[in-house]
Amino acid sequence: MPALVLLGAQWGDEGKGKATDLLGGSVDYVVRYQGGNNAGHTVVVGDQKYALHLLPSGILSPGCVPVIGNGVVVDPAVLLSELSGLEERGVDTSKLLISGNAHLITPYHTTMDKVTERFLGKRRIGTTGRGIGPTYADKINRVGIRVQDLFDESILTQKVEAALDQKNQILAKLYNRRAIAVEQVVEELLGYADALRGYVCDTTLLLNDALDQDKVVLFEGGQGTLLDVDHGTYPFVTSSNPTAGGACTGAGVGPTRIDRVIGILKAYTTRVGAGPFPTELFDEDGEKLRTIGGERGVTTGRDRRCGWFDAVIARYATRVNGLTDFFLTKLDVLTGWESIPVCVAYEIDGRRVTELPYNQTDFHHAKPVYEMLPGWSEDISGAKEFSDLPKNAQAYVKALEEMSGAPVSAIGVGPGRDETIQINSFL
Ligand code: GDP
Ligand code: IMO
Ligand code: MG
Repeated sequence: MPALVLLGAQWGDEGKGKATDLLGGSVDYVVRYQGGNNAGHTVVVGDQKYALHLLPSGILSPGCVPVIGNGVVVDPAVLLSELSGLEERGVDTSKLLISGNAHLITPYHTTMDKVTERFLGKRRIGTTGRGIGPTYADKINRVGIRVQDLFDESILTQKVEAALDQKNQILAKLYNRRAIAVEQVVEELLGYADALRGYVCDTTLLLNDALDQDKVVLFEGGQGTLLDVDHGTYPFVTSSNPTAGGACTGAGVGPTRIDRVIGILKAYTTRVGAGPFPTELFDEDGEKLRTIGGERGVTTGRDRRCGWFDAVIARYATRVNGLTDFFLTKLDVLTGWESIPVCVAYEIDGRRVTELPYNQTDFHHAKPVYEMLPGWSEDISGAKEFSDLPKNAQAYVKALEEMSGAPVSAIGVGPGRDETIQINSFL
């Protein structure tokens, strides 16, 4: 039975939450494998809207077990408040499982995130300020604190001491900030231990056993391909691997177990934070996409930068993730344009380039080469079948599919669960 990875094919906010929720009723486990509460995944069920940050979107589907894998960075305060927020709304959160190997975001990580951004000045990344980068840095530096450390006070104290020894020097001497007391951090962290204990287990063993028993496991990515620390627009990226390989390391399953990799692809492009974005619009078309598409960050409330669809990026996402399918979202937002530009290549210092340049400077110089596709004016939000779409909308989807290198298996025509055209089944 299948293991599926569902991930962002662009710079995040493609509609991963909606797509995961749509599949939630047919899968046994939904697993977050990287990132943390920098993510903001919106799920609309009937007249209810949920914004999930750390919890897998499968938590909203009764019968589905939500799992936070070892590759995720967990802010325990955020996790507990997200859980209680959902419980107040009548969502059963008792099935949640958390890897004991996941790293913890502590107050000093959020502090470091904010001060380093301030220090970078104009060169800042525009992070979400949630402590993501500093937590992954500590993990790689081997001075991180893991969920399992919450249950051993002596080890926890030693580890916080080791981490703060170094950080307090940096905070005081480089950033002119007050040192953070070890006891204060330990006490705060220990305060979360009892509430979290019941959720913690060996999620790697659990997921491999589940796959052995033919259960269906969905790995839900945070962020997107171009925000990947290895394959994205470095240094304007997040500090984890949202790409498909990240599902293996971030959940402890081998690549041979993954059957399908679904790229969530917006029918246009958005980006939050700094960094290159060749098709970005600074005119009224960009404003129109932002307004009609509701392009405002779920996590930080920042306006999203908006631009036309970029086929070079979509093709790159197919390549680095081995995509088997696309879920094309927000096609309804494009209703009302007479013609719609689609970026088919870049012009870089006089050369036409059709693959994403691996050289950072080249990418910063990339100018989009557009092909104009005819638009449509009919409301498509009620479309249930591909044939319900106006001819020009059908042609737009087919053109994107051709350029992007994988079949479009579903199309989003609105935020709701049922506002979806399913072309090929994912299961
Ligand atoms: P995620 O981070 O990838 O889960 O995406 P976000 O939730 O941050 O942003 C996607 C936004 O688009 C949310 O407000 C969704 O409710 C909304 N959305 C998702 N799919 C569609 C769609 O097909 N059409 C429209 N109009 N909105 C959609
Ligand atoms: P979802 O899962 C869009 C961006 C930030 C910043 C960069 C690094 O909702 O698609 P970080 O706080 O991760 O160190 O910030 O990454 N970013 C996102 N952009 N969607 C997200 O998540 C994002 N998570 C981080 O804006 O540019
Ligand atoms: Mg989002």
